[in-house]
Amino acid sequence: MTVTAGLDVSAQLDADRRTEVPRHVAVIMDGNGRWAAKRGLPRTEGHRAGVSALRRIVRHCADRGVACLTLFSFSSENWKRPAAEVGFLMGLLERFVRRDLAEIHRQNVRVRMIGEREGLDRKILDLIEEGEALTRDNTGMTLVVAFNYGARNELARAMRRMSEDIAAGRLSACDVTERRIESYLDTACLPDPDLIIRTSGEQRLSNFLLWQAAYAEFYFPDTHWPDFDEEALDDAFAAYAARDRRFGGLSAKVAR
Ligand code: IPE
Ligand code: IPE
Ligand code: MG
Repeated sequence: MTVTAGLDVSAQLDADRRTEVPRHVAVIMDGNGRWAAKRGLPRTEGHRAGVSALRRIVRHCADRGVACLTLFSFSSENWKRPAAEVGFLMGLLERFVRRDLAEIHRQNVRVRMIGEREGLDRKILDLIEEGEALTRDNTGMTLVVAFNYGARNELARAMRRMSEDIAAGRLSACDVTERRIESYLDTACLPDPDLIIRTSGEQRLSNFLLWQAAYAEFYFPDTHWPDFDEEALDDAFAAYAARDRRFGGLSAKVAR
């Protein structure tokens, strides 16, 4: 009897946790190089395996009812890598869009890019814009691809546009509120991330969503990105569900 009751409780707990899925999940997909090194493979193989993980996670997030998934795929600082690796990553993104866009569209996912567009290869930009246009009216999960993205660059671009609007008289200094600043960011109209996952054990943001992460929960699994699977994501959701988010106030449990 006790055993049965215990099982019931844990089944209920599991069910509750399943329902407590973060609205916006953002992932720093790190560790492709280390995954490859561990296997004596070139770093590029790690990136290739990383794309398979990405496919799985997009599908699983959509299935779990995540409203918005942001994936950090190339940072504004990643240009510092050897030209051959950068070229490989660009080719990978291009092939991913070409091969997977139709399937993503079929899943009713809306695609949006955040990051600096200026200076990007025209061919890549055209592909990204094609993906955004094709999926614009989809009503399922929003997939935000952070590409050539750096939060300081995003903030600098936002400040520049805001200053231009003030100089042109379209905006006055007293209109510069938190909400207004947000409207100039690449993430305008997106909710703040609830959960930020960084794989591979590194515990830093590396210039990712600095403004938006103000009240995000962080999760740092040791798993390298190519090994991050559905089960690992469910573990992250369970850890998230157990957090007590207070936003500077009091715990809902205490306040009651
Ligand atoms: C993440 O894996 C992919 C990108 C940054 C594009 P890394 O390439 O950073 O892998 P590690 O950190 O060297 O293992
Ligand atoms: C952050 O990872 C960028 C992406 C995952 C795209 P990095 O591997 O570039 O970050 P650092 O250099 O370890 O901080
Ligand atoms: Mg890395």
